[in-house]
Amino acid sequence: MKKIGIFYGSSTGMTAEVAQEIAKKLGVADGDVHDVAKSSPSDVAPYDVLILGSSTWGAGELQDDWYDFLDGLEVLELKGKKIALFGCGDESMSDTFCGALGELYNRLQKTGAGFVGYFNAEGYDFDESPAFIDGVYVGLLLDNVNKEELTENRLNEWVAKVKSEI
Ligand SMILES: Cc1cc2nc3c(=O)[nH]c(=O)nc-3n(C[C@H](O)[C@H](O)[C@H](O)COP(=O)(O)O)c2cc1C
Repeated sequence: MKKIGIFYGSSTGMTAEVAQEIAKKLGVADGDVHDVAKSSPSDVAPYDVLILGSSTWGAGELQDDWYDFLDGLEVLELKGKKIALFGCGDESMSDTFCGALGELYNRLQKTGAGFVGYFNAEGYDFDESPAFIDGVYVGLLLDNVNKEELTENRLNEWVAKVKSEI
């Protein structure tokens, strides 16, 4: 059985709520769901699978609590672990939708971890997203500001995909 840890950063609670939903669907215990504001990068050590979530702020930037955590995480050797990304954004910010996921994806390449949970969901309405890389979304992009009604299905499909890939 693979050990799964969920790490999220959230300013108004949206991504935190999604992290709890994902935990429920994957059977991840409360103690394995971590707010990056209260965690240190070495906390990822016990896990085979890291599910990482950030909302996007500014213009396509990471949620604030991610900055220090990611500085420490990106220099770790994570070969053999798998990473799946999810995040909340607002697709009306049409050039930077869920940009934080693009930054997480790019900066974590050098850890040697393998990525899972690429996900081409339907129903988005934006011009560009930094999380759309080489023709695919690098994780689960959610918009609970404009398209909350699509979230449950997107979540279920993505969780099933992640399950099949870990
Ligand atoms: C000032 C501000 C800037 C934002 N910038 C972006 C952005 O560039 N791209 C995006 O997709 N969403 C952006 N958002 C939307 C948030 O990511 C969205 O509200 C999200 O649900 C917040 O999640 P959280 O409560 O987990 O932090 C922005 C929101 C605010 C208030």
